[in-house]
Amino acid sequence: MTMEETKVYLNGEFMPLSQAKIPVMDRGFLFGDSVYEVVPAYGGRLFRLSQHLQRLSNSLHAIRIQNPLTTEQWTQVLETLVKQLPGVDQSIYLQVTRGSTPLRDHAMPTGAIEPTVFAMSNPIPTPDPKVLEQGISAITLEDIRWHRCDIKATTLLANVLVRQQAKDHGAMEAILIRDGYATEGAASNLFIVDDDQLITPPKSEHLLPGITRDLVLELAAEAELSYAEANISHEQLETADEIWLTSSTKEIMPVTHVNDMPVNDGKPGPVWQKMQKLFLAYKEELSSNP
Ligand code: PDD
Repeated sequence: MTMEETKVYLNGEFMPLSQAKIPVMDRGFLFGDSVYEVVPAYGGRLFRLSQHLQRLSNSLHAIRIQNPLTTEQWTQVLETLVKQLPGVDQSIYLQVTRGSTPLRDHAMPTGAIEPTVFAMSNPIPTPDPKVLEQGISAITLEDIRWHRCDIKATTLLANVLVRQQAKDHGAMEAILIRDGYATEGAASNLFIVDDDQLITPPKSEHLLPGITRDLVLELAAEAELSYAEANISHEQLETADEIWLTSSTKEIMPVTHVNDMPVNDGKPGPVWQKMQKLFLAYKEELSSNP
């Protein structure tokens, strides 16, 4: 099956992408009144699905939308999408909007309305070996986002702007600074290695509780690496031995240049090498175990 023939899910039905349409009065379109998830699948198996569905449920709860599907229904929808491209690593995008009403009004509708539920799957591009060998570059920018970054909302204009600023600068990602402390990347979580200790900012309303972030901490604990959830000042970022950014689609990216300056010797560091091995072994185990 080619990508053009694969189907997407919209409100209870599977259909070609070209036929998936939503009304212009959908509040997801008008207000960004909606939340989303991105779930990777390796070897046909959904990666950390229960954690992604739990975060979806938290995001929905935070914006007062009742979860439209049960865990079993979500699992069935996502598995059906993944099965269309056997043997291909994929990322599944899913989105739930509050639905549409006849009149545009910022306040939530008083009566019950049907949420819009959409999901699609796309192949994950094979990681560029250059990224893993040489690392990526990032720039620091002021965190211009709102104060509920813990909700995985589709309202991503600030993220779009900072990510574009990074791209304009020739960098892959923006590391965001709020009140002198680094929060996360425009679409990733942040780790540094400082004095042999792995540090990531604690969960708060200023960052997304990343699923990859939690896995990295779990793997660090199992391997008895020293780690802490603590605030990272801008100065600490500048003098860090290693910097990493994590996400479901990019996994664990070593950052070797920040604001055109090398991080340490400008190469992916030894703690990243160790974590990368642990992460790949975890992925391998998951995709080979029935
Ligand atoms: N983004 N922080 C932000 C702001 C993000 O958008 C993401 C992921 C993460 C990492 O979370 P996770 O490890 O659960 O993927 C952190 C997804 C991939 C996206 O928007 O496409």
